[in-house]
Amino acid sequence: MMSSEYHHLLFLSRAVLKTTTSSLSSFFALNLEALACAVFFMAVFSLWLFPGGLAWALSKSKAQRCPRFPGPHGLPLTGLLTIFTGATPHRALADLARRFNALPLMAFSVGFTRFVVSSHPETAKEILNSSAFADRPVKESAYELLFHRAMGFAPYGEYWRNLRRISATHLFSPRRIGDFGGFRKEMGLKMVAQIRDLMAKKGIVGVKKVLHFGSLNNVMMTVFGRCYEFDNEKGHGVGDGVELEKMVSEGYELLGIFNWSDHFPLLGWLDFQGVRKRCRVLVSKVNAFVGKIIEEHRAKRNMNGHENGEKKVGDFVDVLLDLEKNGEKLSDSDMIAVLWEMIFRGTDTVAILLEWILARMVLHPEIQSKAQAEIDSVVGDSGRSISDSDIPNLPYLQAIVKESLRAHPPGPLLSWARLSTHDVFIGHDFIPAGTTAMVNMWAITHDEKVWSEPEKFKPERFTEEEANRDVSVMGSDLRLAPFGAGRRVCPGKALGLASVHLWLALLLQSFKWLPCDDNNGVDLSECLKLSLEMKNPLLCRAVPRSI
Ligand code: HEM
Repeated sequence: MMSSEYHHLLFLSRAVLKTTTSSLSSFFALNLEALACAVFFMAVFSLWLFPGGLAWALSKSKAQRCPRFPGPHGLPLTGLLTIFTGATPHRALADLARRFNALPLMAFSVGFTRFVVSSHPETAKEILNSSAFADRPVKESAYELLFHRAMGFAPYGEYWRNLRRISATHLFSPRRIGDFGGFRKEMGLKMVAQIRDLMAKKGIVGVKKVLHFGSLNNVMMTVFGRCYEFDNEKGHGVGDGVELEKMVSEGYELLGIFNWSDHFPLLGWLDFQGVRKRCRVLVSKVNAFVGKIIEEHRAKRNMNGHENGEKKVGDFVDVLLDLEKNGEKLSDSDMIAVLWEMIFRGTDTVAILLEWILARMVLHPEIQSKAQAEIDSVVGDSGRSISDSDIPNLPYLQAIVKESLRAHPPGPLLSWARLSTHDVFIGHDFIPAGTTAMVNMWAITHDEKVWSEPEKFKPERFTEEEANRDVSVMGSDLRLAPFGAGRRVCPGKALGLASVHLWLALLLQSFKWLPCDDNNGVDLSECLKLSLEMKNPLLCRAVPRSI
């Protein structure tokens, strides 16, 4: 009995001891977990308190950690991420820069990416013209689409310099732009005919599609030497046109998407937005599509004896193939990347800008009439349609384009940012290597200290105000630099402007642009994707004018 009681007691005390130890250890384990969590959050919180937020706090040295210029903390861990998932990050950043008194430079973080943004012409000039910012941060989507081998994302160096030189000579030179003038006009007249058709059928016109396909074909002709049918109804090449349009839309979407992996490297392998997977599918389609065009060019050159000195206005594929003769051969995959990038850069910037301009024409009938009177006076009684050679005689039309670039810059954050390759000072402010730098061109063009009455659409500021008469949009004056500036300034700016000027002149010469009905105004709400688009695409009436 004694022994059984003893054993029972022993068993009980062991059980009690075991339970106590295990609850003690789970108590400690729980508390340790809680403690670790608390320490982690405290650490994140204290890092988050640094001006500019987490990514600035994680800079290598103490000097680098504290930017001497102000910046919002944003949310712990994610920083200003929500600004970039919104529709108008350029406006949100402009508001913050004003609130933090940080127009010259503002620091902020998005996840682990350190940003600096300039909303002032002086610092914008320093950033864009500095060799320290001649690189671009390569987004995952751009890398997967092989754009790091194309001009826009290629690292600053020999390969990039070569591409700039080749395209400056063979694609963007005044002579080449002139050579394609006839085709540009043909494209403009085709758009006029399409708009007339749409008006006859529906009584209203959504210009976005017409402009997009016109601009796409214009670039396709300059780059690939051929056009496509997109209307899916009749004509040669419909199948290819549909395929091309699908690939272009997919590419735009992928390049415009806010990808978490770009700012949270650990999320990279998860690819939870499916960006990498979609990019890979697209790349294989693009390789097949563009690869076929390159092969067709090669075959034609062999058949035509191109090598034997036969002359023709070659497209950009021919130019790249000619490099083989000079020992500067690009691999086929590099050629595909270079050619494909031109389509992305050259198509929508032009189409979107024209849509904004037409929206303004509908909203401001007096400005529209003034431009039409100018066109009529240049054409006289001849009844001919406008050509490239008339554009220098249309200063008011050019002022409308400038004012539209000011009010609605297609790349309000200058599209693709810059990356500092080494430590550098902007004024007295230290920027560590590896910082992403942006210029908020929209903030500059809407700053009343830079432009009087910035919210007013007033082309006359460029024709009548002495201080603004000679403003160039080409990158020398950072009050209005919609094409960027410095080494990586847009190489297609003259080509883009030539298309916008000519097509706007033809569209104004051919139609009176009116709202859909008296109550239906124009919605100027914005949505920033790859370019700054109209949130609600323009729907209006285009009533034929008698020329
Ligand atoms: C209205 C028309 C256009 C606008 C507003 C525009 C705007 C821009 C901007 C803001 C940049 C960045 C510049 C910088 O970082 O300083 C850029 C770069 C670029 N643009 Fe354009 N662009 C237009 C038309 C075109 C056209 C028609 C093409 C070619 C067909 C083109 C090809 C490029 C390329 C290849 C780059 C990258 C240059 C580099 O990184 O070296 N763009 N553009």
